Amino acid sequence: MNDIAAHVPFRVPFLDLKAQYSGIREETNAAVLHVLETASFVGGPVVETFEHEFAALVGAKYCVGVANGTDAITLSARAAGLGPGDEVLVPANSFFASAEAISNAGATPVFVDVDPATFHMDPERAAEAVTDRTRAMVAVHLYGRAMNMKPFETLASKHNLVIIEDCAQAHGAAMDGDTVGASGRLTCYSFYPGKNLGAYGDGGAVTTSDPDLMRRLRILRDHGSPGKYEHSVVGWNSRLDALQAAVLSVKLPYLHRWNASRRRLANKLAAALADSPVIPPAILEGKQHVFHLFVVRCSRRDELKHFLDEMGIQTGIHYPVPLHLTAAYQSLGAPRRGSKPVTESLSSQILSLPIYPELSDEQMGYIISALRQFIENNHLSAPMDFTVSERASV
Ligand SMILES: Cc1ncc(COP(=O)(O)O)c(C=O)c1O
Repeated sequence: MNDIAAHVPFRVPFLDLKAQYSGIREETNAAVLHVLETASFVGGPVVETFEHEFAALVGAKYCVGVANGTDAITLSARAAGLGPGDEVLVPANSFFASAEAISNAGATPVFVDVDPATFHMDPERAAEAVTDRTRAMVAVHLYGRAMNMKPFETLASKHNLVIIEDCAQAHGAAMDGDTVGASGRLTCYSFYPGKNLGAYGDGGAVTTSDPDLMRRLRILRDHGSPGKYEHSVVGWNSRLDALQAAVLSVKLPYLHRWNASRRRLANKLAAALADSPVIPPAILEGKQHVFHLFVVRCSRRDELKHFLDEMGIQTGIHYPVPLHLTAAYQSLGAPRRGSKPVTESLSSQILSLPIYPELSDEQMGYIISALRQFIENNHLSAPMDFTVSERASV
C-alpha cells in the first residue's frame, strides 16, 4: 500500500449490501422465519404473492418467477418458439448472459453495435443485421436506463420479430411514464443480490400480459409439466424459491424510494462532472433512469480507475470485453475485432462509479473531490473526440 492508500479518509465500496440489510433487518428476518416455519420452500403462497406484487408493480398481467435472470431470457426465447437456426439480435455491449441465454435456447445471437450516447443497441445497426433467419431481438435496458423502444418496435413489426426485453438492470425504470415491462411483452428480470431489487441468492422472473406465453413459461420452468407427473415438453428446473420470494416481497415496497435515492445521487455526480473530461451518462427525454450503474467515459480510464482505487473508491467496468470478442463467441465464429467499433472503443473508456441508495452524501462528496483531483492532477480537458450529443444531462 502506498502513502495515499494508507491515509484515505473513506473507503467507498462499490456496493454495500450489509448497509441495505441493516435498514430492513427485522422485517426480512420475520419473512424468512415465516418460510422456515411453514416449510413451503418451492412454489406455494409466498412465491405466488410475490409474483402478483411484482406484476402489479411493473404494470403487466402476469409474473412467472424463475431461478435467475439468465433462465428468464432462455425460457422466454423457448416460450416464443425460438430454437436452432433462428438468429436473435443482441447488443455487443451487455453482460454475457444476454447472449448466453439465447445460445442456451438453441438460437444464435447476432451481435449489434451500440449507440455512442446511450450505449444501448443502435437501431440502425440492428436494421442492417436483419437477415431472413432473424426471428427476435434482446432489448437490454442497460445500466438502468430505459431504452427508446420505438425504432425497435418499428423494426420488429417490419420483419415480424419477437422482442424480448432484458430488464436485469432496470427494475422500475420507465419509458414515457410507463414502467419497463408495462408493454406486456416478454420482459426478463434478474434478482441477483446486487440488482436494484435483489434477493439473498439467485432469482429471476418474466413478466408478460399474454396468457399463452404465461402458461408456456410456467410449464417450461417446471420440467415441462402442466400437472404432477405430466410432461408435455422437455423443460427446465428453474423455479423461484420461497425464501428468495419472501425477501423480494419485503424489498419491493422500497424499490421506488431506493431508485429515487439513486437518481438523487446520480444528479449530484452528473452535475459535478458537467463539461468535464470524465463524461457522465446521457439520458433521453422522458426516460426514467434507475441508475443500476453510473457509467462514465474517460479517455484515460485505466489511470482514473487506478487513482480511485488508491483513494479507497471501488469501481467496476461494465463491460471490459465486448460480447462478440469473448473467447466463447469467438470460438463460435463471432465477428472479429473492428466489427463493432463503438462497443470496442467504449470497452476501454467506460468506468462504473459507486451508486446505491445507502451511499452517504459524505461519501458522494468524497468521490466528487477525488474525481476533481484526478482531472486537475492530470491537466485533463474535455477530449475532442466526444460529441456534444454524448454530453446530455441526467
Ligand atoms: C443485463 C443482464 N442480463 C442478464 C443477467 C443475468 O441475470 P442472472 O445473473 O440472474 O442470471 C444479468 C445479471 O447479471 C444482467 O446484468
